[in-house]
Amino acid sequence: MPTPPSVTLEIARLAQRPVFDNLFQLYTHDFSGFWAGLPRGDVDEQGLFPAYPHLDAYWQEEGRVPLLLRVEDKIAGFALLNQHGHAKAHVERNMAEFFILRKYRRGGIGTQAVNAIFEKYPGEWETAVARKNLAALAFWRRVISSHPRVRDLQEHDLSTAAWNGPVLSYRVSPVRP
Ligand SMILES: CC(C)(COP(=O)(O)OP(=O)(O)OC[C@H]1O[C@@H](n2cnc3c(N)ncnc32)[C@H](O)[C@@H]1OP(=O)(O)O)[C@@H](O)C(=O)NCCC(=O)NCCS
Repeated sequence: MPTPPSVTLEIARLAQRPVFDNLFQLYTHDFSGFWAGLPRGDVDEQGLFPAYPHLDAYWQEEGRVPLLLRVEDKIAGFALLNQHGHAKAHVERNMAEFFILRKYRRGGIGTQAVNAIFEKYPGEWETAVARKNLAALAFWRRVISSHPRVRDLQEHDLSTAAWNGPVLSYRVSPVRP
């Protein structure tokens, strides 16, 4: 398999917030496939999904990190990190949202992005996966379990009001200089 092009992380500025609004439309559309029969996942009369409610906080609260993922100079996805645990109340890093644009999927771009994120943000981590998102679960299990600096990986199955699905808890040790 050819080597995938390299992924860079860019901490997004407040002026780039509209980029996330736009990308969330695509992300929500992907997720809406899991919501048949539920009251969520419809577009309004303009054809838009509801805006992501927590976005502003990424430029206001300590411990939240909005990342754009680029392949060369092109936007290939985004990641939002916060400190809200699921299995634990508070963690150093929680992968709150993670998205790779369809054009870039299944070419190792998501894996590279996660590796770059772990390198920059080591510590106590959680990644929660919606129960129906089996593709993401396969992705996270593979990327996390095969990462050379991941320790103490545990998988919990939560079925609470706050979260329904598997939660991966683990520690990423820092890169030694
Ligand atoms: C899940 C997602 C991030 C994967 O990104 P990606 O760039 O395609 O991932 P990679 O190419 O690095 O995949 C690495 C491995 O993960 C697994 N994987 C990735 N996508 C998968 C899928 N759709 N089905 C099954 N396994 C999958 C495979 O083992 C894959 O290796 P392979 O391609 O050699 O078989 C991407 O599909 C996405 O953004 N999905 C929509 C949003 C989403 O679900 N986000 C996660 C929220 S928890």
